[in-house]
Amino acid sequence: MKRLRVLVTAGPTREPIDPVRFITNHSTGSMGYAIARCAHRLGHQVTLISGPASLAEPAGVKTIRIETAQEMYAEVKKHFLAHDSLVMAAAVSDFRPRQYSAKKLKTNSRTAFIQLKKNPDILQWAGKQKTKKIIVGFCMETENMFARALEKMCLKQADIIIANKISKFAMPFGPGRTDILLIGPDSLVQQFRKISKDKVARILLDKIADLWYKKHSCRCKQR
Ligand code: CTP
Repeated sequence: MKRLRVLVTAGPTREPIDPVRFITNHSTGSMGYAIARCAHRLGHQVTLISGPASLAEPAGVKTIRIETAQEMYAEVKKHFLAHDSLVMAAAVSDFRPRQYSAKKLKTNSRTAFIQLKKNPDILQWAGKQKTKKIIVGFCMETENMFARALEKMCLKQADIIIANKISKFAMPFGPGRTDILLIGPDSLVQQFRKISKDKVARILLDKIADLWYKKHSCRCKQR
């Protein structure tokens, strides 16, 4: 098996409002860390770009810590070329406060407004430059999971997308089991119920390796 160079992002990003407050989400990083650990176990060379997470750095994995979406974007851009695959397991904050206040904001009014600005879409950027690299996206949906996942896959030119369902009964955050749809090239769909993140990681990494070989077989015209 070829030793692939796998770039993985994990965890949430933090978008600072003032020295005390920030915008973030529920991501714990467990999916991305499971992928990084498994990829290392399989003999791949792994770089992990992690938002704030309280998980142990996987042994043998080069781990780069960032806080904001812009910092994650800068690190992905720096390392993308030197890798065969990018797995965007991070829950990147879509927006950041338009202005950071160096002084703590005072709460003496009854309402407050924070103007938000769109963050760069890292997966979409990668999809545009991918050449023969294998690009993987994740999504979390409360409704129309399949349709929305397909839409994101096309828009961001991902080769594979893994969709997680969020509901009262299924919270995909943290180390527990999860229900997923894995959509591969040609919209081939596989459904897994109550599957562990370690198992998702192994299935995904086998798919990445398969796809890498397909794209690099001499009959593949894409450059
Ligand atoms: N993503 C990214 N950069 C962003 C936002 C998301 O690279 N600024 C990546 C995530 O890492 C994930 C995929 O895009 O792999 C889908 O993220 P998701 O938040 O579900 O989708 P969005 O495109 O942000 O759409 P929405 O939040 O409207 O559902």
